Amino acid sequence: MSTHHAIIATGIKEPLTLQRVSTATPKQHEIQVRAEWIPSAPLDVFQVDAGLMAQFPLRLGDSVAGTVVAVGSSVQHLKVGDRVFGFVFHTQEEKGQQIYVTAPEHLFGKIPDEISLAAAATIPTNFVTAFHALSEKLEIQLPWPCPPGFVSHNQEIPILIWGGGSSVGQFAVQILKNWGYKNVIVTASPKHEGKLKRYGAAHVIDYRSPNVVDSIMELLNANKFSKAIRVFDCVDSKFGSLLPISEIAIQAGSKVAAVLPVVINGPSDENGLQLSADVSKEADWVPGVEVHSIVSYSYEANAFLKDNLMPDILPTLLSQGAIEPNKQRVIEGNTLLERASTALDIMRSGTVSGERLVWKVWTAEEFPEYQ
Ligand SMILES: NC(=O)c1ccc[n+]([C@@H]2O[C@H](COP(=O)([O-])OP(=O)(O)OC[C@H]3O[C@@H](n4cnc5c(N)ncnc54)[C@H](OP(=O)(O)O)[C@@H]3O)[C@@H](O)[C@H]2O)c1
Repeated sequence: MSTHHAIIATGIKEPLTLQRVSTATPKQHEIQVRAEWIPSAPLDVFQVDAGLMAQFPLRLGDSVAGTVVAVGSSVQHLKVGDRVFGFVFHTQEEKGQQIYVTAPEHLFGKIPDEISLAAAATIPTNFVTAFHALSEKLEIQLPWPCPPGFVSHNQEIPILIWGGGSSVGQFAVQILKNWGYKNVIVTASPKHEGKLKRYGAAHVIDYRSPNVVDSIMELLNANKFSKAIRVFDCVDSKFGSLLPISEIAIQAGSKVAAVLPVVINGPSDENGLQLSADVSKEADWVPGVEVHSIVSYSYEANAFLKDNLMPDILPTLLSQGAIEPNKQRVIEGNTLLERASTALDIMRSGTVSGERLVWKVWTAEEFPEYQ
């Protein structure tokens, strides 16, 4: 039986470990990828520190970038040697923080030549999350292929992206610009304003301002179009986003989508990490306002998104320059375990701002046996 190295979380708040696990053989529609770069995500902390969706021992990471090393007999679009990025989440064999990732072909796309593996690794999970939430939950039209000169009948609808500095938020704003939405209001730190306006935000409001709700209400009241708005909460912090949004989305017919989990206290809070899975109960929503919890793992229930989002839509938008990867902060370390542990500690510190932590999984020096 062949084996490979994997980062394993052994229990809540236990230090990460490096272990050997058995290497799966790709089934018919699966490919096997040597994981070369992966991003850290808030979910890593939620799993290791609070046991969210976790059964220990647990492998981590649901985005990956690397090289195809084997394909199943029915794989159609990818071949050995292709540089790919994937959103990988069903099983332990699929997770990213291990040398070999084995997963269905439709979870991957080819990385355009001009994009590095490190940059590509920043994208899959959060791009899928943003596209799925905007198109399916908020019912914002994003037809694919995007017809030349496409103009949505809802082009002017006010869309609030809460947390534009986050990785999810940056992709949401870029997606809306590509389909021509004009009235995108974003909350973020002022230092992100230039980038977010380039990405298509009409207004950038500082979420730390005590007047953030009033400032957004003023913009909405000045708008001669519908007051029913669409809101995508990309951070889902009970006190930092959900409660203010519940004071803004007060017109019946408004739709709110918030990424799970709701963070009651963050990992750096003195009371410790506290999460909730119920967006509808964590704020007082006005009757007639639709509230959706976002779990991007369910995007495959939409057959069109399943077949197109990772294999076609993302690589095409990236090669057209319509989407750019997040800024990368590279986490160094002499060993895979050191890089994984350092990245997890930085995620816990709550200091990630407008960037994505990325780090090498396989390196030829550390693991020559997987050349
Ligand atoms: N349920 C799902 O399917 C799913 C999928 C993907 C992600 N998520 C969740 O989505 C959230 C974001 O993930 P991510 O990877 O995009 O995170 P991230 O990039 O690490 O988020 C950090 C950013 O959040 C912003 N932020 C923090 N608190 C804020 C607040 N109160 N208001 C506005 N912005 C705030 C900060 O903005 P500034 O720099 O402007 O301060 C910072 O840049 C996480 O909770 C993650 O677990 C869920």
